[in-house]
Amino acid sequence: MQVPDSLLKKYNVPVPRYTSYPPANHFSDDFNGNNYGDLLIESNMLQPELISIYIHIPFCNKMCYYCGCNMCLAGDKHLIKPYIQALKKEITMVAAHLEKNRKVAQIHYGGGTPNSINSEFIKEINEYLFNTFEFIDKPEIAIEAHPGHLDEKYITDLKKAGFNRFSMGIQDFDPDVLKAVNRDPARMPVHELMHLMRSDNPEVAINLDFIYGLPLQNPASFVETMEKAVKLQPDRLVTFSYAHVPWIKKQQEILEKRGLPSTETKMEMFLAAYHFLIHAGYHAIGLDHYVRENDELYIALQNKQLHRNFQGYATRRTTGQVYAFGMSAISQTENGYAQNEKDTKTYIDKIETGHYATVKGMHVSPEQIKVREVITHLMCNKEFDWQEMADKLGITQEKLKTIVQPDEAAFSMFEKDKLINPKANGFEVTEMGALFIRNIAAALDPAYKEQKQKYSKSV
Ligand SMILES: C[S@@+](CC[C@H](N)C(=O)[O-])C[C@H]1O[C@@H](n2cnc3c(N)ncnc32)[C@H](O)[C@@H]1O
Ligand code: SF4
Repeated sequence: MQVPDSLLKKYNVPVPRYTSYPPANHFSDDFNGNNYGDLLIESNMLQPELISIYIHIPFCNKMCYYCGCNMCLAGDKHLIKPYIQALKKEITMVAAHLEKNRKVAQIHYGGGTPNSINSEFIKEINEYLFNTFEFIDKPEIAIEAHPGHLDEKYITDLKKAGFNRFSMGIQDFDPDVLKAVNRDPARMPVHELMHLMRSDNPEVAINLDFIYGLPLQNPASFVETMEKAVKLQPDRLVTFSYAHVPWIKKQQEILEKRGLPSTETKMEMFLAAYHFLIHAGYHAIGLDHYVRENDELYIALQNKQLHRNFQGYATRRTTGQVYAFGMSAISQTENGYAQNEKDTKTYIDKIETGHYATVKGMHVSPEQIKVREVITHLMCNKEFDWQEMADKLGITQEKLKTIVQPDEAAFSMFEKDKLINPKANGFEVTEMGALFIRNIAAALDPAYKEQKQKYSKSV
């Protein structure tokens, strides 16, 4: 696949990432803990009934200059113990409002760096969750881990604590790239870490995360990193496009001085990695995820059942309303979002005084829920059928179109540019169109207006 520069220029405009709908910049500061309490109670009455839990551990030992996550540095480590106490208290506060017969299908630890803190703390939280909730058979228990802080003991501890999916942030195998972005490399060879994760339990799954668009990277060097990755046979692989938002993450300015690759080079890196991974037998999921043939996400994609939440892609089996705990964590219920305080100390203080730490969020209207279904389906399954979606939502096609207000001029342009292939009641996204799927989604988003500067570019 060759992507003409003219298309890159035309479509590389700021658009939402659509990891949620409505996007997080629609959250209101007027949304408070009382509103979150209402969402919790309402969430028992709405589908899906499964529970997905997100635990945010903000602590990191060192700041990677590219980082776009909500994290806090080692200087705040005296806060770890009180933070774990606050997490447990928040879990108790939320669980009190959830129906006891609802089961947990997924726990996801993200950060920051969950494995920068003593493994005993992680075990303590998991045990607390196991004692608080009912679980489905074989729930997914996942952790985002920095390979710079993993060793045999830590991995053994995590497995004993119940983890069966590990995501390791490799970013790039080239030590010079890691040095340029102030990131520590893996502490042990990655294949040894993976061997330790998989030993004794063949059901353990491993994801490796990479970023393209960093200083010193070029298409050839990134393919070398992909070659090394494929030799390790991860179950899933993610190539994140570096999101450059220095107006929010000031430390990213340092990378501008070190020289960021151009948009064209970034696209070449993406395509080089894409071709290499597809040739190596991986299948693309969404924009940037790659999985093997037997992966449940690929099977869900083929059955048009792929779904996603803030934590990433999911199957209907593991997708539930997400109850998120910790600083900056965003809960996603059927009809709303609630985000916690982003300052770690303030988060602890609020929870310890018996209040939710909610600082913003929103109720999602019945119309917005329908648009969300449309956009999530498109972003995950790369096709769209008005009649099928209308049937699923229990309304007519005409009504759905009135709600979504599709941008017909944009769709004619997508067709002309071969980003979509029309079909009887909708369209399929072409291989090239998948690169610009955020732009296609924006044409189905009635709220996408003049907020362009608030989003990172689509490539
Ligand atoms: C919370 S981190 C993972 C855990 C751990 N902190 C680490 O760095 O390994 C989640 C992932 O987000 C990705 N990431 C972070 N900042 C990013 C950015 N600005 N653009 C794109 N991806 C980013 C990285 O690939 C990282 O592995
Ligand atoms: S990328 Fe990970 S380790 Fe690096 S600063 Fe961000 S959260 Fe911390």
